[in-house]
Amino acid sequence: REKVTVRKIVNLKGKKPIVMITAYDYPTAKIVDEVGVDIILVGDSLSMTVLGNPSTLQVDMNDMLRHTAAVSRAQPKSLLVADMPFLSYEANVNEAVRNAGEFLRVGADAVKIEGGSEYTDVVKALTRAGIPVMGHVGLTPQKHKLLGGYRLMGKTAEEAKEIIEDAEAIAEAGAFSIVIEYTASEVAAEVTKRVKVPTICIGSGPFCDGQVLVIHDVLGLSDAPPPFAKKYVNLKDIIASAIKSYKDDVENNRFPQEEMYWHMKDGEYERLLN
Ligand code: KIV
Ligand code: NA
Repeated sequence: REKVTVRKIVNLKGKKPIVMITAYDYPTAKIVDEVGVDIILVGDSLSMTVLGNPSTLQVDMNDMLRHTAAVSRAQPKSLLVADMPFLSYEANVNEAVRNAGEFLRVGADAVKIEGGSEYTDVVKALTRAGIPVMGHVGLTPQKHKLLGGYRLMGKTAEEAKEIIEDAEAIAEAGAFSIVIEYTASEVAAEVTKRVKVPTICIGSGPFCDGQVLVIHDVLGLSDAPPPFAKKYVNLKDIIASAIKSYKDDVENNRFPQEEMYWHMKDGEYERLLN
């Protein structure tokens, strides 16, 4: 498989549904890349899925860079996108460029930022610096306190119009694709029709250029998966059963077995005792 580039992702619009999934570590990234998804996202959902925090607000640049570097060591052919964490791009454009650049230095191919028309200056500055930007509109979890929780967005024409304008603004500013999270499906469909770059949806219906899911939701490892997630396997039960077998083996003297331990040279044990 050839390396997936930002240009290839843009060219997929209208040709093939784009597949994106999160990964946060080396072994998972290897599995996901071998399957051959289009895009791997080191999401700031890391905060909850891996680090056990209550929201995405708790992760910082160090957390995101460490996990992006780990995923990058899997040398994925998939496009590697990293989420810019809360407070790494909002304060000013200079900070945004410097922080985004750090992600490319550890192996990311692009970064993702949450926000619409109020962030076109950041999208432009990153693009100017050669850092491809993925946008993220609709439900933007870093702003859940302002938005009034994790709610379905764009149910009214007024809110729908805002989201559509946000998407158009960041596409115009240079974003190479846009995540649309938890909006009414009509809103995602309308954005998909209007913007030239691919839309990648989560909880926003099928009328998009691609879909994204959080891998812990897919694998059945999440405590509180969102209503739009699909669980493809109950890995929690599979892991628990393997650990239970190990526990039973140790407690019943079945592990380790003969082929899993080793002996001193002939005669050396007798010499040790004398
Ligand atoms: O952090 C994340 O996992 C995301 C996806 C849900 C798009 O931003
Ligand atoms: Na995110």
